[in-house]
Amino acid sequence: MVARMIDGKAMSAALEQTLEHAVANLVKAYDVAPCLYVVLVGEDPASQVYVRNKTRRTLAVGMRSIEIKLPATISQSALEDQVKALSRDPDVDGILVQLPLPAGLNSDAVIACIDPAKDVDGLTEVSAGRLLLGRPGLRPCTPTGCVILAKHSLGDLSGSHVVVIGRSILVGKPAGLLFLAQDCTVTLAHSRTKNLADVCKSADILVPAVGCPEMVKASWIKPGATVIDVGINKVADPRKGQGAARLVGDVAYEEALEVAGAITPVPGGVGPMTIACLLHNTVLAACARRGWANPDLTAAKWPT
Ligand code: GUN
Repeated sequence: MVARMIDGKAMSAALEQTLEHAVANLVKAYDVAPCLYVVLVGEDPASQVYVRNKTRRTLAVGMRSIEIKLPATISQSALEDQVKALSRDPDVDGILVQLPLPAGLNSDAVIACIDPAKDVDGLTEVSAGRLLLGRPGLRPCTPTGCVILAKHSLGDLSGSHVVVIGRSILVGKPAGLLFLAQDCTVTLAHSRTKNLADVCKSADILVPAVGCPEMVKASWIKPGATVIDVGINKVADPRKGQGAARLVGDVAYEEALEVAGAITPVPGGVGPMTIACLLHNTVLAACARRGWANPDLTAAKWPT
């Protein structure tokens, strides 16, 4: 059996088409487009690519997007002041501080300066608390994308055993809670988990989010399982020439194809969905904050 590929690119395009429609209606009704601010500190090449993609796609659905680029040498207090100013500015609907921050800067303290009403990354204590308590709120983008992809692949997730590998605040922990909210049985595995391969093999839905190239082997996957690969790792690709590189996930994709029932590719799986969910959150934040009627976003035409 060869696994079905879960096409995150097509799924995100479908969601973005719905968002584009919704944004056009908001602009018609209220004469202003939602506005996302992305704060990038330092010159990390991967972060620069992520931020450029976020900006491009925010603009593509008709929203406003503004990048604030700050030097890696910025002081903690100057960075916090910058984020606090965005929190106060009534024209700002969403604030995203690209992570990781350069060494020496405390990301927790910076995130604490984000107004929870503008927390499109879902990382503030208020957003995390709402998620834990099952109250409405802005959810982290990558795990939200994972749940959408799993639901698209499987339909009802109720009773499925989900194994998430990784316990970060950006992905692992919120992914566990979001799958729990879908009535899944959730295992949060991590670097200290004993018999990790066996734990993974018991998963109906396996969600590796560790940043370790091709760590998950075919022998770790239950036949027919759904694999949602969060990892995006750059590895050398000498076949393409000296210094060339390619992107791989946390899953050994080629061999996993032979065992899994469905699998997300890297690139083109979870990555594009993360950005679509960010745009979705920005629309939701703008509507809630400005008292606009929530647009109907249920009409997304998911590709089959
Ligand atoms: N770095 C990698 N992924 C993300 C993300 O989803 N949000 C932020 N803020 N930084 C990231």
